[in-house]
Parts: sequence; structure tokens; C-alpha cells
Amino acid sequence: MSKNFYVTTPIYYVNAEPHIGHAYSTILADFVFRFYTMLGYDSYFQTGTDEHGDKIAVAAHANNTSPQEYTDRISRKFNQTWKDMKIANSDFIRTSEKRHIKVVQEILQKVYDKGDIYFGSYGGYYCVGCERFLTEKEIVDNKCPEHNKEPEYIEEKNYFFKMGKYQDWLLDHINKNPEFIRPERYKNEVISLLKNDALEDLCISRPKSRLEWGITLPFDENYVTYVWFDALINYISGIGYPDNEKFNKYWPAAEHIIAKDILKPHGIFWPTMLRSAEIEPYQHLNVHGYWNMDETKMSKSLGNVVTPLELTGKFGNDEVRYFFLREMTFGLDAKFSEDVIIDRINYDLANDLGNLVKRTFNMVEKYFNGNIPEFNSGQPADRENVTSLLKKSADEYIKHCSNFQSSIGIEKLWEFIRYLNKYIDENKPWQEAKENNTEKLSSIMRNLLESIYSISVLLSPIFIEKSDKIISALNAEGKSRQIDDLYKFDILDTGGKLSDIGILFPRIEKDKDKDKTQIKDERKSKNKQAEPKKNNEENAGLVDISDFGKIDIRVAQILKAEIVEGSDKLLELEIDSGLDIRTIIAGIALHYKPDYLINKKILLVANLKPATIFKRKSNGMLLAAREKGSDKLHLVEVNEDIPVGAKLG
Ligand code: ME8
Repeated sequence: MSKNFYVTTPIYYVNAEPHIGHAYSTILADFVFRFYTMLGYDSYFQTGTDEHGDKIAVAAHANNTSPQEYTDRISRKFNQTWKDMKIANSDFIRTSEKRHIKVVQEILQKVYDKGDIYFGSYGGYYCVGCERFLTEKEIVDNKCPEHNKEPEYIEEKNYFFKMGKYQDWLLDHINKNPEFIRPERYKNEVISLLKNDALEDLCISRPKSRLEWGITLPFDENYVTYVWFDALINYISGIGYPDNEKFNKYWPAAEHIIAKDILKPHGIFWPTMLRSAEIEPYQHLNVHGYWNMDETKMSKSLGNVVTPLELTGKFGNDEVRYFFLREMTFGLDAKFSEDVIIDRINYDLANDLGNLVKRTFNMVEKYFNGNIPEFNSGQPADRENVTSLLKKSADEYIKHCSNFQSSIGIEKLWEFIRYLNKYIDENKPWQEAKENNTEKLSSIMRNLLESIYSISVLLSPIFIEKSDKIISALNAEGKSRQIDDLYKFDILDTGGKLSDIGILFPRIEKDKDKDKTQIKDERKSKNKQAEPKKNNEENAGLVDISDFGKIDIRVAQILKAEIVEGSDKLLELEIDSGLDIRTIIAGIALHYKPDYLINKKILLVANLKPATIFKRKSNGMLLAAREKGSDKLHLVEVNEDIPVGAKLG
């Protein structure tokens, strides 16, 4: 493969405003663009809008405006949405632009002169939603299954592209290049279309008497170009076909991203058009599935559209990018739900990544005054072990993301992130600190800090802001981001000062639970009115779930335990809460020896108001159970495998 990389999204129809289906394809394209740039490729990324055809003319008419005014307005919306979402597209092409129209006409003339376009008449069933004639097999119960509408029978004289002439060539090309259309299921779909039936020629014009909004055919001014023949050409008109430097550089390194709805135009029309125009075929067609809401496709006509900016406004741009890239297995459909977004944020981002960074920063602050400690030459094995695990995970991450399989790739890198949290638990830096084993302690912390730097670089194509935030808190702006350098673990400056990282990914409470709670409360208050006495008695001593939800109970680990001088009941405990390292005073000295408590995982009430006990600040409370009829206290201990910071609830 060449060192040039060119990624495209579909150019979106301007008959509807951007929704999350569009946002997914665009985020994925933006991710792979940034990813290949990170790998050292000379990369280019194009998106844009598809502005001609029946569909747009109808939408403009319905909005009492001209097609040009209408497309200007909606196209601007797409452009602005991508800017607001920090999408880094190199260009934004509109099919009503002169530069595009010129190339469409050049290609049409070339194909016409070659004898691959002829004039004929045709009758067939046309679906305005798909903007194409459907074959008999594609019509189910008299309807287009994609748009759930009856196609219209249209018979007229038109121009046709001899697509059938290239059927054998295309089949052969796909067989020789098994990754040409990927994943495999979509390749197989195209192969079966090509194998089972003779490929019909493609009607590529519309008479102006029926539709004026389009590109005039260069060889007959009474006709405009069929919208798909026009739209597909954006992929080369945008980079300046035939002789612009960009075209020479980025074609045929093109990686098209589409969803399965437009497989046929991209898998069959486009390669045969290119072949006829004597242009090399694109590199890969990367086909993803649909985001479904409650098992149905999201679309304006179904009225279940979520706008991308609503989503990023609610959850954050980096968080939404992570969700899309992690949640959809490339090629398969995925279910869109805010609940799943919240779970991804709380578990993957807050618990795994956020916690790792926070714990590490807190310990460096505590044990080294926030200065980056040096590696100790006496600990090479440990360092080699961590770097080799990082390399193993990163290799897998890079392999899968290079093939657009972002969800598998991210999971591979997350294995390393989870390992690092375990590395802290197993190496117990607090123990080394207690024993004044500074050399071992500094090596552990340095391994963690270098790992966090490497992870932040690798994840920077996903986290546009948060990766830079971590890198800057590590005082490592301007350091090498070359992949090979990431495994050396000598990027950071010994003695460099860490800055406060704050909370990287705040946890989110689920609205749904609140709603449920509210419904419950309303029901209760109604009952109360009807049967005030009985209900009051029944509810005596009960709390609402919303009250319980106010208490932040989480898994914490005891790092240090000492008897409070002058007291026989109290212990001063230093604990890692996952949020911070804090001190609590606990009345368990009669029941537990300090040594027994070290490294134990316990449950902590983390949001209790701080109190002063025996002149010491106590910041929280641990949970213990008292035996009935006795003073005996039992600490509520938590299984080793539950990570520090995990919330009870
Ligand atoms: O088809 N899930 O434009 P379009 C995932 N103009 N992706 C979705 C989606 C969903 N529910 N809904 C839309 C057109 N998409 C033509 C393309 S290209 C030369 C011309 C995404 O506005 C997905 O990428 O209908 C899909 O292929 C595209 O939007 C369709 O956008």
C-alpha cells in the first residue's frame, strides 16, 4: 500500500438535516484520517453534500424555496455541524459547485465518445428515496423495502450507460482483490448480484421536461444527469481530476466509507463507471451497518432522528466519538441508546481510563510532590514486561483500526488499560512508600506515567481534546508521537512537574432511573391522598431510591493504617477511593489490627461531609456491620477483582 491515504464519506443528501447516522460515518472517517496521519501517512479526507435529483427538487418545493437556496441552507448546516464536532475534513464538496459540474461533464463526454453511452427507451419502477430504478427482485410486496413506499412506474426515452459490458471485469477484479469490498458479507452480496443476473445497463439521464435540477448532459442539453452518475464522481472531482496534483497523489489510494444502504451504487455503478472512463478503481469500499433505534433504522421519515449536536452537547464530543467507534462492530448493525452511551462513559472512560490517570497522578503528587520520578536501573524486568504488553496491545489496536475495525482495536488497547489498573493493585505502590523503598516506587510510577503517555498518543485520533489534556498535564507537549518511540518509555522528563488533571471523564447518572423514580413518587403521593394513614404506616422507615442514590458508596483500598494516639478505638486509615487518596478515621481498632487492613478493599461512603475526630480530619466513612446483641464489628470487605473506584448501586 502506498504511503498516501484518502478517505471519503458519502456526500449526504440535503433533503434532511444531519442526524447521528451521518455523524457516525463522518466520525469514523475523521478517526481513520487522524489515525493514518498518526501512522505517518500523507492523508486527505473529503466529505460533502449531494444536491441534485428528484428528491432535492421535491424537498425544495415543499419548503417554498428554489433548489439552490434550499441546498445552500442545508449544505451549510452539514458543514457547520462537522465544524462544531471538530471534524478535520480537508475539503467539503458540493455537487452544485462548478468544479464538480465540469468534471461530471468531462467524464460523461469521455464515456460517450468511447461508445459506452447510448440513447434508448426504458420503462421501470423508480424509487425516489433510492433515486434509482429497482429490479423486480428488489421490490417486496409492491414496495421498496428500504423506504417502505411503492415505486413509481416511469417510461421515457433516456441515455444509458453500458454497465453490463463491465460485469465480467468487475467480478474478476473483486475475486482478485478480496478486500476490495469489505467486510466480506458485503463483498458476497455484490458477487451474488453479479453472478446471478445479467447486469442491466444504467439509465443515466432525466429529461428536463420532468426534472431541471441537475447537470446538463454535455451531448444533449434537453437532459440532465442522473443523480447517482453525478454524485459518485465527487470522489474524484473534489481532488481535481484529471490533472491536479492532489488527484495524482490520492487516487487510487481512496478508502470509501458508506453504510449498506448504498452498496449497489458504490459496489457496482462506481467501479464500472471508473473502468469505462479509464480511471483506476478505488482501493477499498468499507461498508458499515445501520444504527437502529428500537430495531428500526433511524430516518427522518420515521420521525426518530437524533441530532449529533444534541448528543455531543449532552455527553461531550470525545465521549460521543468513543461511543460510536467502540460500540459498532464494523459491518454489523448496532443499537443506539443513551443508556449504552452512559455505560460506556461510566465503565470504560471513568472507571478504566479516568481512574488509572487519576490514581497515578495522585500517587505521584503524594509520593514525589508531583515530580516525574526516574526509572530505577534495578528494575529492568518490570519495565520490559510493561513495554512488551503495551506493544502487544498497540500492535493489535493498530492492525484492527487500520482496517476500520475500530471497536475490536479499541478493545485490544483497553486490555492494556485494565492491566495497568491491576498493575497498581498488584504492585501496591503505597506499600513500597511505607517501606521507604523509593527506588522500586519510582520505577512503578514511571512505568505508569510512560504508559499513560503512550496510551494518550495512541488514542488521540479518538479523543481530540482529552488526549492533549493528559499529554499537557504530563508536561509532555511537543514530545515525540512516533509510534516506535512509544515503546521505549523514555519520553518524559525526569523531574518534570505534573499539572492537576481534574476529572477527565465525569460519571453520569442515568436519567431513566430518575424518570422511574419520579413515576414511583407520583404514584406514592396519589396513594397517600387516598389512604393517608395506612400508607404512612407502611412507609415508615423506608427511603426513596432517590434518597439512597444521593449516597456515593464506592470500592476503596486501604493503603495505610495506624492507631490514633491517645485512643484505643480509632484507626487513621489512608485510602485510595479511585477519586483521590484520603484519610478517614474509623472506630474499628478494637476489632482489627492495622497490619491486617493493609491492601484490603472495602466500601467507602465517599460523599460524607468531612468531620474532625480526635483533632484529625476524617473524609468519609467505611462500611462495617455490627452483630446483633453484641459490639462485634465486621468490616464489609470486597472481592479483590472489583476495581478501586467502582460505585455501589
Ligand atoms: O445516500 N446508520 O445520502 P444520505 C448508519 N447522497 N449510517 C447511516 C444511517 C444509519 N441509520 N443513516 C444514514 C445518500 N447513514 C447519497 C450518497 S455518495 C456518492 C451519495 C449514513 O444522506 C451512511 O453513511 O441518504 C449512509 O450510507 C449515508 O448516511 C446515506 O446518506
